[in-house]
Amino acid sequence: MNVLVTGGLGFIGSHTCVELLNANYDVVIIDNLSNSSIDVLEKLEKITSKRPKFYEIDACNKEQVEKVFKENKIDAVIHFAGYKAVGESVSEPLKYYRNNLDSTLTLLEVMKEYSCHNFVFSSSATVYGSPKELPIKEDFPLSTTNPYGTTKLMIERILADVSKADNDLSIIVLRYFNPIGAHKSGLLGENPKGIPNNLMPYIVRVATKELEILSVFGNDYNTKDGTGVRDYIHVVDLAKGHLKALEKSTNFKGIEYYNLGTGTGYSVLDLVKTFEKVNNIKVPYKIVDRRPGDIDACYADPTKAYKELGFKAELDIEDMCRDSYNFIIKNKSN
Ligand code: WQD
Repeated sequence: MNVLVTGGLGFIGSHTCVELLNANYDVVIIDNLSNSSIDVLEKLEKITSKRPKFYEIDACNKEQVEKVFKENKIDAVIHFAGYKAVGESVSEPLKYYRNNLDSTLTLLEVMKEYSCHNFVFSSSATVYGSPKELPIKEDFPLSTTNPYGTTKLMIERILADVSKADNDLSIIVLRYFNPIGAHKSGLLGENPKGIPNNLMPYIVRVATKELEILSVFGNDYNTKDGTGVRDYIHVVDLAKGHLKALEKSTNFKGIEYYNLGTGTGYSVLDLVKTFEKVNNIKVPYKIVDRRPGDIDACYADPTKAYKELGFKAELDIEDMCRDSYNFIIKNKSN
């Protein structure tokens, strides 16, 4: 089965390609390298002894996407390509609407031209906004507080309409909670360019002394220790969830939505203390003001993914902390 993975050299995309290749899928990657690097291709080959076909193209470019479908019989698409920095989306909304919506519309149009019916979409728990209760189920109200999240919600709405109009399609929407961690080999991981927005990449940079101290954004939330609580899921578990979604998409028609989370929430201080313990290293921090737009707590009810996809996260918070640090240590020179 030929699977097209857009954004396949990125953090979640590359880990998903490892699982696809190891499961003997044929993988075709398109990536414009705006938030990834070409050396990830060699790393995929090193880990799996297989080299996926790669096209350095932009998923918004219809001519180039058509070329990929013309040259390869694509049976399914897993769509990761998109901008994902919440803060940047607030300052540059047009860039986010253009890129995230355009790439998806282009893919759906070309899929229709080439009778490709299976689509797995990388959505986000951010579509739940500030949940009224916890844990979060897939039928909870949807609302967003930033343009990044709104692009995800708009795309979900587009997919629902497209699914209604074309009952040959099978569409799986995966709502990720907080993906962290790295492949055990230390060859793949998360290494954002510039100052990290997200917690784990920031903790790692403080641990390696690249950054001086972690700012904990607020300790007056309605949580056990006052710091923000999130559902951290190991990126390898998340990758495996995509294979479960792909299997489901080949034997059902319509559209379905699944939370990919562990169902357990950890606070910022939980993560810092676990990171320090498993890596035997200090992570200095200071409490500062809340970050605008942050919510107290967010964690999944993972029941539906377990019941309908057979998906359950297996790696724990210690694995996430150990693997995140291992990746950076192994790639320090880069
Ligand atoms: C986690 C917790 C912060 C940094 C975002 C996106 C979401 C998804 C994952 C794409 C919060 C605290 C953070 C720091 C801190 N991305 N924090 N100091 O905001 O839950 O989710 O990333 O899909 O869509 O919204 O993740 O890692 O930024 O924050 O105290 O330097 O860590 O306040 O409580 P978030 P995060």
